[in-house]
Amino acid sequence: MASSIQCSLLFSLLLFFAAAVAPSFQQPFHPVALVLPVSKDASTLQYVTRISQRTPLIPVDLVVDLGGQFLWVDCEQNYVSSTYRPARCGSAACTLARASGCGDCFSAARPGCNNNTCVVTPDNTVTHTATGGEVATDVVSVNSTDGSNPGGAYDVTQFVFACAPSFLLDGLASGVQGMAGLGRTRIALPSQFASAFTFSRKFAICLSSSATANGVIFFGDSSYNFLPNINASQSLAYTPLYVNPVSTASAYSQGEPSSEYFIKVTSITVGDKNLSLNSTLLSIDSDGYGGTKISTVNPYTVLESSIYAALTEAFVQQAASMNITRVSAVSPFEYCFSSAGVTSTRVGPGVPYIFLVLQGEEAVWTITGSNSMVEVSEDVLCLGFVDGGSRPRTSVVIGGYQLQDNLVQFDLASSRLGFSSTLLGRQTTCANFNFTSSA
Ligand SMILES: *[C@@H]1O[C@H](CO)[C@@H](O)[C@H](O)[C@H]1NC(C)=O
Ligand SMILES: *[C@@H]1O[C@H](CO)[C@@H](O)[C@H](O)[C@H]1NC(C)=O
Ligand SMILES: *[C@@H]1O[C@H](CO)[C@@H](O)[C@H](O)[C@H]1NC(C)=O
Ligand SMILES: *[C@@H]1O[C@H](CO)[C@@H](O)[C@H](O)[C@H]1NC(C)=O
Ligand SMILES: *[C@@H]1O[C@H](CO)[C@@H](O)[C@H](O)[C@H]1NC(C)=O
Ligand SMILES: *[C@@H]1O[C@H](CO)[C@@H](O)[C@H](O)[C@H]1NC(C)=O
Ligand SMILES: *[C@@H]1O[C@H](CO)[C@@H](O)[C@H](O)[C@H]1NC(C)=O
Repeated sequence: MASSIQCSLLFSLLLFFAAAVAPSFQQPFHPVALVLPVSKDASTLQYVTRISQRTPLIPVDLVVDLGGQFLWVDCEQNYVSSTYRPARCGSAACTLARASGCGDCFSAARPGCNNNTCVVTPDNTVTHTATGGEVATDVVSVNSTDGSNPGGAYDVTQFVFACAPSFLLDGLASGVQGMAGLGRTRIALPSQFASAFTFSRKFAICLSSSATANGVIFFGDSSYNFLPNINASQSLAYTPLYVNPVSTASAYSQGEPSSEYFIKVTSITVGDKNLSLNSTLLSIDSDGYGGTKISTVNPYTVLESSIYAALTEAFVQQAASMNITRVSAVSPFEYCFSSAGVTSTRVGPGVPYIFLVLQGEEAVWTITGSNSMVEVSEDVLCLGFVDGGSRPRTSVVIGGYQLQDNLVQFDLASSRLGFSSTLLGRQTTCANFNFTSSA
């Protein structure tokens, strides 16, 4: 009985995806990989990508939410599409979305308001606001890549996403229409692209440190080539990915695991000093507290108070021994230094390196001056870490600034994270993907 239910479920999922794929005119049926540009919004420090959606296709800007559960967009205003389809209760899209409920809408029918549709909870993870939203499908179109340039566009005709009311956009970068969730769910972008085009559930992000040049997200099996002819796949070290058994979303049902990506920091070294840390904080406990996650919605790395204190104390001490002068704090940072005494190196300001020692052989994430120091003015550099308080949900949240110009690969099938440390050491940057189309 149980197995026949599973079989028919699998069968309908297969049918669903078979129907969902349609190559654009004259393209090979399956691209090996897809590519999206990512820019940094200077005022919110959010990372913004652009997809094409709807019929006719229009560009839709979205805040990148690495651990986010799915794509959600504002359907209340300006959603016009002849291919919008609400997900009917009990449909394959509802099952895939693990929709929590089924409902009707008591105002005029429009995208986001239809009867007999299933509902999920879109989450603005910047402001920690969540609300109910209709599950729907529509066309999404993304460019393919050979790992070096964008190629032609491919459509997923029934891409599953959630509709949200306009107010959920509050707190997001100006001009965006929602968030692109890349987390660990069946309907996050990596899984839907992988299913639609039968490539691996693997993606990589490379955030640019430049406000004017785009970084890049790759989906699927490609190498990651940056100008001038640098194959960044060769720079990856690996560490296991962990699942936090308790959801970290703003609203969730009991028993739901987190869709965010967790890794295990086993120790931290600053310069030549090994920090003494409370190891309990470095593991995820049964209530889902502790551990280390990676986030694109936190602009800077956030550390639990005792870890923050140990790291900053060691950093200040080592900086002093290099004759780097401390100056007044500049919010949100506490530890700032005069840039006068700081040398300039290929990998950023010449300050003590911070080493995150991760689980696994040779899995050391090196944070050099380019990712530790934030230039707050011409003469002042601040240590770009913030205090997360004494009992935060997650002890170490590696934020956007520390990810910039690092290639970070998420391999869901093998459950491992590949990371490059700074690409500046390889004489390239995340802004060096050649976005000139070869199509
Ligand atoms: C949903 O059904 C109710 C009751 O039949 C009806 O009043 C309402 O107009 C319908 N809403 C939509 C959006 O079709
Ligand atoms: C994406 O593909 C479309 C259609 O093939 C093409 O016109 C466009 O230039 C591509 N975009 C980029 C950034 O290469
Ligand atoms: C890049 O390096 C990876 C890993 O060594 C290799 O598998 C891939 O073929 C290389 N790609 C190119 C285009 O050289
Ligand atoms: C650093 O400290 C951790 C405990 O915090 C310990 O497990 C590790 O072996 C130490 N590493 C070195 C190189 O001393
Ligand atoms: C280590 O952290 C855990 C979790 O916050 C706490 O219960 C424990 O008291 C801490 N241990 C020490 C020695 O501070
Ligand atoms: C720091 O300054 C002192 C006194 O000016 C000098 O003797 C020492 O060599 C300097 N150290 C470094 C690492 O520059
Ligand atoms: C970027 O790619 C385009 C298309 O393949 C190529 O013509 C151009 O020379 C490349 N740019 C650089 C700087 O190599």
